[in-house]
Amino acid sequence: MIPPKPAARPDRVSLWRHARLFRADILSAQPAKLYRAWMAEFRTPFFRSFLVNQPALVDLVLKERPGEFPKSDRVSEGLRPLLGQSVFVTNGETWRRQRRIIDPAFEGGRLRETYPAMLDAADAAARRLARAARQGAEVEIEEIASHAAADVIFRTLFSIPIEDSVAQAVFHEFRTYQRSQPILNLAALVPWPRWLPRPHRRATRASAARIRALIAGMTARRQAQIDAGTAPDDLATKIMTTRDPETGARFSESEMVDQVAIFFLAGHETSASALAWALYLLARAPEWQDRVAAEARAFGGGFSDLSTLRDTRDVFRETLRLYPPVPMMVRAAARDTVFRDRPVPRGAQIVLSPWHLHRHERLWADADAFDPGRWSTDAGRASARCAYMPFSAGPRVCTGAGFAMAEGVLLLARLLRGLHVAPVEGREPVPQAHLTVRARDGIWLRVTPRGNASANARV
Ligand code: HEM
Repeated sequence: MIPPKPAARPDRVSLWRHARLFRADILSAQPAKLYRAWMAEFRTPFFRSFLVNQPALVDLVLKERPGEFPKSDRVSEGLRPLLGQSVFVTNGETWRRQRRIIDPAFEGGRLRETYPAMLDAADAAARRLARAARQGAEVEIEEIASHAAADVIFRTLFSIPIEDSVAQAVFHEFRTYQRSQPILNLAALVPWPRWLPRPHRRATRASAARIRALIAGMTARRQAQIDAGTAPDDLATKIMTTRDPETGARFSESEMVDQVAIFFLAGHETSASALAWALYLLARAPEWQDRVAAEARAFGGGFSDLSTLRDTRDVFRETLRLYPPVPMMVRAAARDTVFRDRPVPRGAQIVLSPWHLHRHERLWADADAFDPGRWSTDAGRASARCAYMPFSAGPRVCTGAGFAMAEGVLLLARLLRGLHVAPVEGREPVPQAHLTVRARDGIWLRVTPRGNASANARV
């Protein structure tokens, strides 16, 4: 089954067309040859940029010499009003110190402790979706997935469900914030001259300020609970009480606001995107949906039982391959260097593209096909070793990778245990890059109780 892929632009375009492509969504603005090339160079009068697809080059940038390819300040600038100095945008010693405090909260053992809150969120999501299913409803699943992923974050981080009034307020503000964000296009990746203030839209700035005020209230309350010895043992408490093993310092309250903002943003937008696409793919591949449902029914529900959800995990991995929530990442060359015999000047943009790497015709068999079965073949595993990085790689790998894999697999299993999803005719989603890969007009599915054969067949 070949799921939707945005039409590529022609390899050669006029200058005028080029200008228009700059404003188009980044996935459709790229030429088809990027799915075959090892590297592509974009030259404009103002900047040079290199998209690297060759596994050895990707490793060089992310794993071997990451210090020479820091995050580009000028690209991160766009997220600054919301994220401040969060671990997502910092570099150097500040970033290292932040990771030393954050990483322990996401380690394997800790994940086991976080898991019951995740399970509660998954079951709450299944109950909400079941209500829609009883009406045989057509639902927009991205919205539902966002709600579920936000619930996971609130429950694991602050021990509160999405129904809590502060959680509701943060969730709705995040939606406003995302709506005020433009789609991710080439213009968004262009380095901005340092001396020119970035024109954050007024609505985006105002929304970021409201989100930060709400989060500041949550962290202040939590600090008071920690001081009084009454804090619940969740991710927020863990992070706020962890001392940097090297300096002994803890996060100040304002630093914690920055980190919580990125956990909400990185942790809920991405997981929601992956969950929505996974459900869509399963709607298109009924035989895999049946396998997931069968696993889900046999699933014991405990943290260690997650390993029994093998097909579900392969479905989720395959979803992250075809629709990586973070389609591209940008770094800046800190000094002159050479890639594939071509000079890369200091300041050049280095674009790493999970979107292209995961669909690379020379690295994957049948690259555009949805085939979770590939994950149990030697060839599939070999491709994954060199051409799969939905969570990035190297020292800046996603902090929440283990968390997100557990969450994605668990949510799929809990949702599909008693429910059946089918595509809605005439509503094929068109992938588009926003902060994450979303569908232009949402992802529509018909949801019915599983086992209700006539309803399931009614598509
Ligand atoms: C399917 C879900 C997820 C995907 C695909 C994903 C993907 C990524 C990617 C690709 C990056 C690197 C970005 C870059 O270098 O430009 C990243 C960074 C990050 N992610 Fe995730 N993520 C997911 C879920 C989460 C969750 C659940 C959390 C936390 C609760 C999280 C927290 C972070 C943080 C803090 C960073 C910054 C790490 C650093 O720069 O050192 N992510 N994520």
